Amino acid sequence: MSDLAGVRVLLGVTGGIAAYKAAQVARLLVGAGATVDPVLTAGARRFVGVATFEGLTGRRVRQDVWDDIPAETHVALGRAADVALVYPATAHVLAKLATGLADDLLTTTLLAATCPLVVAPAMHTEMWQHPATRHNVEVLRTRGVHVLGPDDGPLMGGDVGPGRVVAPEEAVAALARLVAPVGDLAGERAGDLAGRTVVVTAGGTREPIDPVRYLGNRSSGRMGVALAGAAARRGATVHLVAAPTHLATPAGVTRHDVTTAAQMRAAVLPLAADADVVVKAAAVADFRPAAVATSKVKKEAGVPAIELVRNPDILAELGAARAPGQPPLLVGFAAETDDVEAHGRAKLERKRADLLVVNDVSSTDAGFEVDTNRVVILGRDGSRTVVPLAGKDAVADRILDEVVARLPARDG
Ligand code: C5P
Repeated sequence: MSDLAGVRVLLGVTGGIAAYKAAQVARLLVGAGATVDPVLTAGARRFVGVATFEGLTGRRVRQDVWDDIPAETHVALGRAADVALVYPATAHVLAKLATGLADDLLTTTLLAATCPLVVAPAMHTEMWQHPATRHNVEVLRTRGVHVLGPDDGPLMGGDVGPGRVVAPEEAVAALARLVAPVGDLAGERAGDLAGRTVVVTAGGTREPIDPVRYLGNRSSGRMGVALAGAAARRGATVHLVAAPTHLATPAGVTRHDVTTAAQMRAAVLPLAADADVVVKAAAVADFRPAAVATSKVKKEAGVPAIELVRNPDILAELGAARAPGQPPLLVGFAAETDDVEAHGRAKLERKRADLLVVNDVSSTDAGFEVDTNRVVILGRDGSRTVVPLAGKDAVADRILDEVVARLPARDG
């Protein structure tokens, strides 16, 4: 059965030339068994016809917030949706969503919706790269909105560059991945971590140079936060040790905020002593300044030489301290740019982890600062599981599947 069978999708179509591809999205969604509620903005209706979407979905296309006041169309549509997709999403609608403006049926409905929201931006490269759009997209991502693409390719008017909407098939596959873990929770994944304690680290540590400067990295914390949320949904008691990240704490998760690698170590070690699983998704700085200046280093004093010293490797320490076959099960992450699996395998051995999740951070749709990830999960037992490009929530569930398969059976 399709992951989208019985799923109710709110399909927002906005005013860009790519709106014609939204008809194909609607067709694919219906073909996958979804119920599709199309909402076309006034701009979209200049590019594509209402009749097309009514014919493809078999449902009325809603157009105006004033159409049927007693029916509270925006609230009803927003509440009914299992997932919402805006395809294509113009720079204008991204700006409205980022600020919470609700001046038409689509934006009003999306404010009333509490389901996951996926947007597929489409616009000219200059508009996509404008600081205002960059900012709006970041605001939306921080709020948990899934941003798909845009692709790099031919645009309207003969231009070529980033700004092309992702293919309809890709948008539909992304929705399927997003709803799949939720659907599965009613089934075999439900409660499979009940009674287990899971410690997850997330984010990128910051190593101070002086009171205002630090050495940091590009980790956003999204993968770790997704793992913490997924483990909690599957019934675990979850401790999230979070290096600085703007992301909200998922429901049911206890958060411990830290800044440096040393603080992370101090938080993780006692929690790990009582844990069944430790997932080290954080990007921990390998080095820190040997000395932290107590007042701001002045440029007038010349270019400073910053001596670095090694940070403790928390994962390796946990691996070394653990007796064979004893908990906690250790999951490490490796962000690599070349020869990713060979480096990952070596790291797995060196740190004595049970599983190592390898990211290729050189691609633009996976790894740091994006909502999607493409990983390979390497097992100490020689296993190799490829997880194709998917939302980080779906990747989190696939990683936890590997964890659950390796947990010792509980007594009784
Ligand atoms: O060696 P590398 O930094 O690539 O290893 C990454 C893995 O090791 C991640 O799981 C990370 O959280 C963990 N790590 C750690 N302490 C460090 C460095 C990395 O726990 N000081």
